[in-house]
Amino acid sequence: MTTKTKTIVLGVTGSIAAYKAAELVRRMQQQGWDVWVMMTEAAAKYVGPLTFQALTKHPVAVGRCEAVETSTYQHLDLSGRAGVMVIAPCTANVLAKIAHGLADDVVTATVLAATAPVIVAPAMNERMWLNPATQANVQTLKDRGVLVLDVAAGELACGDVGAGRLTELENIIAATAKAMEKG
Ligand SMILES: Cc1cc2nc3c(=O)[nH]c(=O)nc-3n(C[C@H](O)[C@H](O)[C@H](O)COP(=O)(O)O)c2cc1C
Repeated sequence: MTTKTKTIVLGVTGSIAAYKAAELVRRMQQQGWDVWVMMTEAAAKYVGPLTFQALTKHPVAVGRCEAVETSTYQHLDLSGRAGVMVIAPCTANVLAKIAHGLADDVVTATVLAATAPVIVAPAMNERMWLNPATQANVQTLKDRGVLVLDVAAGELACGDVGAGRLTELENIIAATAKAMEKG
């Protein structure tokens, strides 16, 4: 029987780095964690929900909050299940939404309903990352106790070089393990 403290709810958002989330799921499973995935509609354009469903063996919540066959309140079920909630990759858009308490899709609604520790791993173009609006949103989340991981620097998918890459997966795993210990 999986305990709540070993359950990760992973939110995947519409960054080109979304393809890395499939490998992240595998690495989390190698830690013995039970992973449930939720995605924004944009994320589902980069990686199919079926990939995550097959990897996790759980239904994948996508887009708007909806009553589905397996769950009437997907966002409440997911937030109640989470030992730790991880948003990776997190777009500038979702970062802004969760900083302001918006909840217009299953990812943001689940974060708003979270009682578990929340970890955010941003990924975006450097200009988006350095924008004062994004930096203010990061600070808001940190002030509220959300762990916002640093972005990495290097070649970005758009061809630019700079800060904004998703941090290495091992950093996300290490931060999640630490949050679980505290949990
Ligand atoms: C090819 C492509 C790659 C993108 N990559 C990123 C990204 O890495 N980070 C980001 O914040 N936005 C990125 N965007 C923009 C987001 O997809 C866009 O803001 C979208 O509305 C985000 O939706 P979501 O935040 O609900 O997932 C990208 C857009 C395109 C077309």
